Amino acid sequence: MNLENLEARLKSLAKMDIIKPPVELIQSLPRKFKQKFPRSRTLSLEYQKYIPGGHEHQNAIKWPFTITMDKGEGAFVWDVDGNAYVDFLMASGPIILGHNYPEVMEHVISIIREKGPALGVMSEQELLAAKEIVKHVDSVKQVRFYQSGTEVGMAAARLARCYTGKEYIIKAGGSYHGWSDQFVYDLHIPGTGALFSYGIPRGCYEKTLSFKPGDIRRLEKLLKRYNKPGKGGVAAVFLEGGGGDGMTHYVPREFYHAARELCDDHGALMVMDEVITGFRLAMGGAQEYFGINADLSMLGKIVGHQYPSAGALGGREDVMELLGAQAEEVDENGTSIKKSVMTAGTLAGTNITCAAACKAIQCIEKTDAINIAARVADKITAIINDAFESHDLPFFAYNFKSIIHCATSGSSFYHISLNLPDALEKIDACREVLGMYNAMLMLEGIQSLQAMRFYTSLAHDSSEVLEKVANAFDAFAANLASME
Ligand SMILES: Cc1ncc(COP(=O)(O)O)c(C=O)c1O
Repeated sequence: MNLENLEARLKSLAKMDIIKPPVELIQSLPRKFKQKFPRSRTLSLEYQKYIPGGHEHQNAIKWPFTITMDKGEGAFVWDVDGNAYVDFLMASGPIILGHNYPEVMEHVISIIREKGPALGVMSEQELLAAKEIVKHVDSVKQVRFYQSGTEVGMAAARLARCYTGKEYIIKAGGSYHGWSDQFVYDLHIPGTGALFSYGIPRGCYEKTLSFKPGDIRRLEKLLKRYNKPGKGGVAAVFLEGGGGDGMTHYVPREFYHAARELCDDHGALMVMDEVITGFRLAMGGAQEYFGINADLSMLGKIVGHQYPSAGALGGREDVMELLGAQAEEVDENGTSIKKSVMTAGTLAGTNITCAAACKAIQCIEKTDAINIAARVADKITAIINDAFESHDLPFFAYNFKSIIHCATSGSSFYHISLNLPDALEKIDACREVLGMYNAMLMLEGIQSLQAMRFYTSLAHDSSEVLEKVANAFDAFAANLASME
């Protein structure tokens, strides 16, 4: 698809009336769920009692009730009632070889058996995993493991502030860099500022600035304004590879190159958040895809390939060395001359994580998983578009390698103009209908990231998957089109 038109198409879809499933269908969904998922229903009632909100995972289906999965293999997951799904959620992105990929699983188990799951001090597994990352991500010369992408973001911000001696961080509006206090600002929908920052004192995010995705002039203005004497200065610009929220707010290659120049001109570090794009867009992540080098790279998800705990910060040697736990040196005047950034994690860089990281990266390279998953995604995108077109729906799908986006009335909440007087009501209405679409797709045997995002893997490369997707989307689109 022509990416130049993408923004215009998304905006125009967001202006259209929401296409809801027919009333009878909406009313029948809870009954159908009860019939098809009895064990999940019983468990969901118990979750309500013991687990806040009845679920742990933000991307799990929530309405009519959450579905409990039992096992995963290849491109499929099975729920506790024995129903199979083509899985496009892929644990929210960490899986690109397929569920429970045998070679990774055997390797992790053998390491656990022979050496134990975690030693709490250096083990050779860390070195092996770090070397694999450095081999592929050009800008990364050193690596430090953490327990999640959220922790990696916290470490990157602290490190950038220590290295530059400056205070502010800038992010693109709508981006997600984990849920630490300073990053829960202007989330998901650009321009929403502190809308989702409940429980966070203003002081925690007041040194976080944001700009409209792709707006290079605004980024330049912020850098200039906050680098003026006495203003505190900008330590780092955080960018998600390909654009915020998993490339939902897509920005083109030129933006990254211009942003790189601005960072250099204004003495700010460029931090590329590759938690989704790392080992998915290319072996060298979004940086290879767009042909740039960041100063720091945030990695998560596929680093770990579904084994806990996935998080790694990588980058330039002269910046990363501040994470070294050196004792402070004090000069003859008693002045500290060696800075060291405090970060930690009891179960960071365990044998499990690092064995999984090392073996998964090797398998991704060996199998050409990135390109195979991308080619399958091309086919699935075409299948979804066929279904929408043949049922005359104004929806469309598009993909960046193995990340498919499904643009519907439901996902339109991302692109609603906040200038509209009823913007928040519209956003709620989109999200409500998105929940319905998700339920409809689950009934058709498709699990995705809330009916908006679909991650493919090496294992999706099968005619069985393509056939199931074609049938499911045809039924889904037919149900929506029956409105007219
Ligand atoms: C781009 C990005 N950065 C950071 C994170 C946070 O990673 P984690 O969930 O491991 O804390 C995520 C998680 O979805 C992400 O998508």
